[in-house]
Amino acid sequence: MRPTVAPTPISRFRRLRRTPALRALAQERVLSVNDLIWPLFVRDGVAVREPIASMPGVERLSVDLIVKAAEDAAALGIPAVCLFPYTDPSKKTELCEEAWNPDNLANRAIRAIKAEVPEIAVMTDVALDPYNANGHDGLVRDGIILNDETVEALVKMALAQAESGADILGPSDMMDGRIRAMREALEAAGHKDVAIMSYAAKYASAFYGPFRDAVGASGALKGDKKTYQMNPANSDEAVRLIERDLMEGADMVMVKPGMAYLDICHRVKTEFGAPTYAYQVSGEYAMIKAAAQNGWIDGPKVMLESLMAFRRAGCDGVLTYFAPEAARAIRAGQG
Ligand code: PBG
Repeated sequence: MRPTVAPTPISRFRRLRRTPALRALAQERVLSVNDLIWPLFVRDGVAVREPIASMPGVERLSVDLIVKAAEDAAALGIPAVCLFPYTDPSKKTELCEEAWNPDNLANRAIRAIKAEVPEIAVMTDVALDPYNANGHDGLVRDGIILNDETVEALVKMALAQAESGADILGPSDMMDGRIRAMREALEAAGHKDVAIMSYAAKYASAFYGPFRDAVGASGALKGDKKTYQMNPANSDEAVRLIERDLMEGADMVMVKPGMAYLDICHRVKTEFGAPTYAYQVSGEYAMIKAAAQNGWIDGPKVMLESLMAFRRAGCDGVLTYFAPEAARAIRAGQG
């Protein structure tokens, strides 16, 4: 029950906004470096950094430089990085075998980071799109995305990542039943402490555009992902998906995209109280960067305000391409 608010002048809300000290005392939420997960794009080669045009400031890095990035992240206090591979088109097939190759780019990067920067948590992406000749997250037959066959492939992929030392697996594929299948396979293989962050409420969103450029899936993708990713009009369905994935063995749940879905973040955290994360996706990042580059908004301020919004909505953390920039700003006392 909400207590009655006394009318002005008995209450004057501006009393607690008068000075920085009073505002600090009255602040309800904080944004901390501990809340950040930094997504990184891995490519082959040595000492290669390749800018991504639609994501200013973000680069694809070869494994040696990914290790450097993880070192920087750890030095800033960022608790986790999340790896996405840019796979050479020659390795993309209809059956996506490269996805569970123990020596694929993602798995090599996991091992390299865990060898050099063991204290940082490494999160992965479990989905077939970086390896799929047709750009989809699942196996395709006659234009249909196959659910159960895809789950089998994803389990192989997840096991290879766990074997490489991943701390958190991130299934982003939206197939039904994959969390349970992965959880059972992990238990059976002795990987009982590998966590799963389910992309449980993932919407079929146009905000992913720049990411598909970054992993080289834009050109490959035939059609759209609406038969497996969610309809942006739905909210009850998100709650049911989150509940299902928690029941199947997810330790953490994610809502994606972020800013346009803060109502979902809030509902999910309020209804389940589970560790809840949002993904501030590539298109959200690109919009803020582009407007800032044009001088239309104050980029660093909008960045921090957008990240605070996730905390206010109830998220425990945020996957964001701003992670190092935000960490530096927070450490400088601007957060
Ligand atoms: C695909 C995947 C996507 C993102 C993360 N994993 C794109 C998609 O579903 O098409 C998007 C991330 C971003 O836009 O930053 N498995």
